[in-house]
Amino acid sequence: MKVSYFHVAANVPAGPLPETAVVIDVLRATTTIAWALNNGAEAIQTFAELAELNQSASKWPEDSRLLIGERGGKKMDGFDFGNSPVDLIPEMVLGKRLFMSTTNGTRALQRVREVKNLYTLSLPNRKAIADQLLKAANDEVWIVGSGWEGEYSLEDSLGAGALAAFLLDRGRDFVLLGNDEIIAAVALWEKWKTNPEDCLRSASHGKRLIRLGNHDADFKCCSQLDNLSIVPKQFELGTLRAC
Ligand code: MLT
Repeated sequence: MKVSYFHVAANVPAGPLPETAVVIDVLRATTTIAWALNNGAEAIQTFAELAELNQSASKWPEDSRLLIGERGGKKMDGFDFGNSPVDLIPEMVLGKRLFMSTTNGTRALQRVREVKNLYTLSLPNRKAIADQLLKAANDEVWIVGSGWEGEYSLEDSLGAGALAAFLLDRGRDFVLLGNDEIIAAVALWEKWKTNPEDCLRSASHGKRLIRLGNHDADFKCCSQLDNLSIVPKQFELGTLRAC
């Protein structure tokens, strides 16, 4: 299994996609997706464009839908929630379809939406995703970071390194690191694995969230490791469910 990492969607090579891709947005979209599905959301439909989100959401019964997401890290007007994973408690999301759009995470998902197996990774469900990949043992896996407006993301690279380090540890005889970016990501994980929250707070997007206000609960939640067994997978184009 060759594992490669692309910092942002724009770096994903043109041409044929592999069977399996994993999208990361540690702060905070894929952590939010993991917690929402863990807490009982029926499904999460992701949209890069707000017009498409509003058009789809309007066809869904109002009492069983929630609009979630952000632009620039701030909750959008008219939405039920921003993009904090700690807000999506069972009492709020149980049985509901979430319509989600974020600055970067939903764009990364759109770039690889045509793959056969599309998963979302965060630090809380890192082991769950790794176990799923090891079970499937596909020939090639592309990990795609969300970054920030096309730029490198420290925290997404940390997530990619955390996944790759686990895969190497459990599948040393058949897991290969496929590019320089994933090798660097593993080195990043080795540096910060004892204190992932410190990495998230040091990242440019972490500093952006700190400037926007108190996000201590988000940093704590997004830096927890292997505490969720949820595996978010795309079942229809743009729609994620627990598999
Ligand atoms: C993103 O899409 O870049 C993030 O999810 C933004 C955020 O939630 O802070």
